[in-house]
Amino acid sequence: MDHLEEIRARMGIEELVGSYVQLKKAGRNLKGLCPFHNEKTPSFMVSPEKGIAYCFGCHQGGDIFKFVELIENVSFNEAVKILAQKTNVTLPQRMPELNNKRLRSIEINQWSVQFFQEQLEENHAKKEYFLKRGLAEETIKKFKLGFAPDSFDQLKNYLLQKGFEPRELIDAAVVSQRSIADKNSYDRFRDRLIFPIFDHQDNPVGFSGRIMGDGEPKYLNSPETPAYNKSLVLYGLNWGKESVKEKDRAIFVEGYMDVIAAHQAGNENTIATCGTALTPQQLKLIKRYTQNIAFAFDQDSAGREATFRGIELAQMADVNIQIIRIPEGKDPDECIQKNPGAWKNALENPISVMDFYFDYTFSRFDKQTMEGKRQIMDFLLPLIKLYKREVEQGVYLNRLALELKTDVRLLWNDLRNTKIKTYPGIKTERETKPDERIFSREEFLLGFIFTYPETYKTVAENLIDNVPFDTNTERFYNLLKKVYTLGSPINMERVLSELTEEERENVSIYSLLIDEKYPDFPKELAGKEVGKLIRQINRKNIDVIKRDYQVKLNASKDKQDAKLLLNRLMEISKLEQRI
Ligand code: UTP
Ligand code: MN
Repeated sequence: MDHLEEIRARMGIEELVGSYVQLKKAGRNLKGLCPFHNEKTPSFMVSPEKGIAYCFGCHQGGDIFKFVELIENVSFNEAVKILAQKTNVTLPQRMPELNNKRLRSIEINQWSVQFFQEQLEENHAKKEYFLKRGLAEETIKKFKLGFAPDSFDQLKNYLLQKGFEPRELIDAAVVSQRSIADKNSYDRFRDRLIFPIFDHQDNPVGFSGRIMGDGEPKYLNSPETPAYNKSLVLYGLNWGKESVKEKDRAIFVEGYMDVIAAHQAGNENTIATCGTALTPQQLKLIKRYTQNIAFAFDQDSAGREATFRGIELAQMADVNIQIIRIPEGKDPDECIQKNPGAWKNALENPISVMDFYFDYTFSRFDKQTMEGKRQIMDFLLPLIKLYKREVEQGVYLNRLALELKTDVRLLWNDLRNTKIKTYPGIKTERETKPDERIFSREEFLLGFIFTYPETYKTVAENLIDNVPFDTNTERFYNLLKKVYTLGSPINMERVLSELTEEERENVSIYSLLIDEKYPDFPKELAGKEVGKLIRQINRKNIDVIKRDYQVKLNASKDKQDAKLLLNRLMEISKLEQRI
């Protein structure tokens, strides 16, 4: 048995999916809420027999490897590794595809982390920097903070000695090259304090180096590498995911130091993007752990802009949003150092998105001028209108009237004439609509054929040409037709053995489709349903054939040809009447 099969044998799809999603029995399958899109009624089906899980809402899913790829946001190779670990299967030592650049880069980063840590231990003056900023010894250890010496080649030589190739060091981006033509390469981080960056699975994927004094850039970041996909990484999540789950809330801050200070203060559910704007993928990642997020961005205009963009994104991702106002200092780190009580208090008293919009609007426009009043109303009324209940609308209108020193009755009037914008607004109650993929009749019919192979006889005898005009399923029908000529009843083993891995998975999905759309379907009715599908497909086939002949007939100059075509057309009409 090869290692993939061995993993498959040891890990049932229901066990795997069950550790992420609550599943309920549904006939011989299980059903639950899809982890890949937001839904209120379960359309995620798990078939222990077929070894697959598939969502009929958003059409994502597959076998255990595919499921891990999707839910952990990893490559196939990584998924194999994760599952091998879970099932105690030892992977062959030199699996070439696993020994890829990503893993090499991570290995290099691991050594680099160690190097930077050793350097920090040797440089008490540098360590002093962290201690002065209020970090405890064990915090420095936990976050594996380090120091990059003021040298062009110390790290490079250290890594070359460990047996890495110069090329690999450049790939991992711990070493840089001025240009590809330039043979010289040198350590990227020099004379900087080092914050190693880990992905949520605790792999070191990159670094950020802070300058000690003033200078640019303040933080020098690793570029994207085979190991580091910036839009997927959240700084702090590797240490914080348990806490995010437990507290059922993730707190987003802007900086590395904010994360570290917050963790040290006991708020381990704090995370940050690494010098980039929040991305949809990062939100998707966090949604695995919680549906509730809070933004605690810096108390400046950049922080406000970041909050604004964050709200917009988070509303699209359909998560609950709170905003935390930093009560003291410019960022969470400063606040925690100066007044930890105020920080705790702020965490316990988040403000709503609407409160934030009020603050934002009034700081941006001048409520004293007529123009400012108009801008404020243009901004806020569409957002207030999104609330369904008049009581709720009233609360905000009253507040707006007070601020603008105007009569609330006038605002009610304005509100009536306000159009709802799909502007970043209050979360409206709706499920996210995944792209609709409607299964075709040809696909349904395949589902029946593979679930009840005895029905193929009817298909062979009644489906015109045995193969419908449908590029998606043509190959399956051709194969069925071929195998059927070898003998009836059709040898399904043979059919399956001639399919590719991917096609076999499609077949599983088609037959799962029958379980999903026809729950508790009595087997006896399969024949009837198959007949109905054949009639519908035939009707479509005939239309295609007729159109085709009509075109040919119109184009044909040869009388003999035309006559043949006409005969064929008449045959088809007869066939049509029979159906
Ligand atoms: P800040 O300038 O607010 O720094 O940038 P900070 O986090 O408060 O850092 P300290 O307290 O001065 O040490 C916030 C975040 O933006 C990214 C970093 O992730 C930083 O933590 N950043 C900032 C960069 O990536 N590069 C920069 O040059 C500056
Ligand atoms: Mn700071």
